[in-house]
Amino acid sequence: MNRIELSQQIIDTCLEMTRLGLNQGTAGNVSVRFDNGMLITPTGIPYEKLTPEHIVYVAEDGTFEEGKLPSSEWLFHLTCYQHRPDMNAVVHNHAINCAAVSILNKSIPAIHYMIAASGATEIPCVPYATFGSSRLAKYVEEGISKSKAILLQHHGLIAGEANLDKALWLAHEVEVLADLYLKALAINPDVPTLDDASMQVVLEKFKSYGLRVEK
Ligand code: 13P
Repeated sequence: MNRIELSQQIIDTCLEMTRLGLNQGTAGNVSVRFDNGMLITPTGIPYEKLTPEHIVYVAEDGTFEEGKLPSSEWLFHLTCYQHRPDMNAVVHNHAINCAAVSILNKSIPAIHYMIAASGATEIPCVPYATFGSSRLAKYVEEGISKSKAILLQHHGLIAGEANLDKALWLAHEVEVLADLYLKALAINPDVPTLDDASMQVVLEKFKSYGLRVEK
């Protein structure tokens, strides 16, 4: 796919993220791996105003095109590609339920078998650091090395996958899991979880389940 087509796909993903209720305003950002670096949404421009020309190329050394400003979170996106060769697309948002769980500074444990969609037995919550900072990128590196989806304390969610469709699907799934977790927590702070053996079975099954999602 060429740059213009990929840039349009990024914009479509952003608009769908808002339509799904996962994001609002200029919060969140989306990228795809491209040409040893990545294509990423610009900083601070509402999604509905984006055209493919706004999408910014950031090289592997962090340099970017003159006259364009990439998302303030470009460093953690680049970090995801550098530490997860299986990831070609990354979405970040401030989805309400994910953000609420992150405010409680809780990882989402194996409350439901769909946690395995992350490739792990829990969705980790990484510590708070200022948006756009190298410290935040370091925390992201630690979390994303373990799970394809992570919560950022007092902030939101990151999900990375083989392509944009799958990354958005995972982000949506994690928002549903965060909603379930908050509902269960409200009734019983000691939320029951699946045991590790059960989760290992699902993790194995998910190696082929993901193939159902459009490539
Ligand atoms: P950008 O507009 O710079 O992408 O920032 C939005 C955001 O969500 C920061 O975490």
